[in-house]
Amino acid sequence: MSFEFHNLRSGLATTSSDDQFAQAVLDGLSRNPKRLPSWLIYDDLGSELFTDITQLEGYHPAQCEFEIFEKHKQAVVDVLTKEPFRVIELGAGDGRKTQILLEHFIQSGLIFEYVPIDISEGAVRNLVAELESQFPHSTMSVNGLAADYFDGLQAIKEDSTLRNMVLFLGSTIGNMELPAAETFIRTLRESLNEGDYVMIGFDLMKHPKTLYAAYNDATGVFETFNLHLLDVVNEKLGANFKKDHYVQQGHYNPSTHAVESYIYSTREQVVFIEALGREFYFAAWEPMQAEHSYKYTQHEIETLATTCGYEIVKHLFDVNDHFVDSIWEVKRT
Ligand code: TRP
Repeated sequence: MSFEFHNLRSGLATTSSDDQFAQAVLDGLSRNPKRLPSWLIYDDLGSELFTDITQLEGYHPAQCEFEIFEKHKQAVVDVLTKEPFRVIELGAGDGRKTQILLEHFIQSGLIFEYVPIDISEGAVRNLVAELESQFPHSTMSVNGLAADYFDGLQAIKEDSTLRNMVLFLGSTIGNMELPAAETFIRTLRESLNEGDYVMIGFDLMKHPKTLYAAYNDATGVFETFNLHLLDVVNEKLGANFKKDHYVQQGHYNPSTHAVESYIYSTREQVVFIEALGREFYFAAWEPMQAEHSYKYTQHEIETLATTCGYEIVKHLFDVNDHFVDSIWEVKRT
């Protein structure tokens, strides 16, 4: 069994992702109110800081998914046929939750390939090395890709003899607004073949106080993570954000159905961004939105699946119904 790593973001691809980053910052800071998209934060350190969040006891999306995988791992095996298959994970990060499933697949004697895809090269490299040391001689081969989701999927589509199961876990789908989530799920379907599966993690709507507590830990891990965004912009675009002149807080917004994270400028200040050749003005206590985490109802999830060309196979819930990993099969449309 082989353990490989490929970087699809090197060379030209990196230049275009640098441009994309600069453009996103320019657009976001030119908006009123200012708003930067969630994905900007995930450089290698951002990815590690997010891992710290997933280890917080109060951060239910991660804790629920651990519980769901422990409890329902056999249900996932039951969905997959005995034929060799491929598990593709979009935004694999440290892959810790997924290892519960991978280990169970191996113990069940299933032959499969695992393809973790992430924009953080460090995260994928570490994950491949970790799996190689944990499962050196098993029925699993690993092919890690540092890539944007759809570039990675495109590379896989070229070899389509295996049945695929695409994992999109955590509540990453919630970081997209509903119309964008729908476009994403349709595009994903186009990259797959009839009979392939997807398993998507959705954080469910629940008591707003529970949501508030989950996204505002007492130790400041969320704030550190969210403010890291300013360091990323400083580093990538030569900006001069002073991190200690900002604070962060998350809250549930009933008009958008999302937990939104805001970075507040604690004073009036001007930031210069060298790569954009421009200054940006912040008023005292001006908020800048940095994260958006949509909270779904089960009905919305089911509508999303069926309108986008999938059939629901199974919903896997945690004991409190706070979170669902939903398995869908790609149908001919
Ligand atoms: N994927 C995380 C989530 O939606 C992203 C996140 C990290 C986040 N910190 C946040 C979302 C603060 C909202 C507020 O849960």
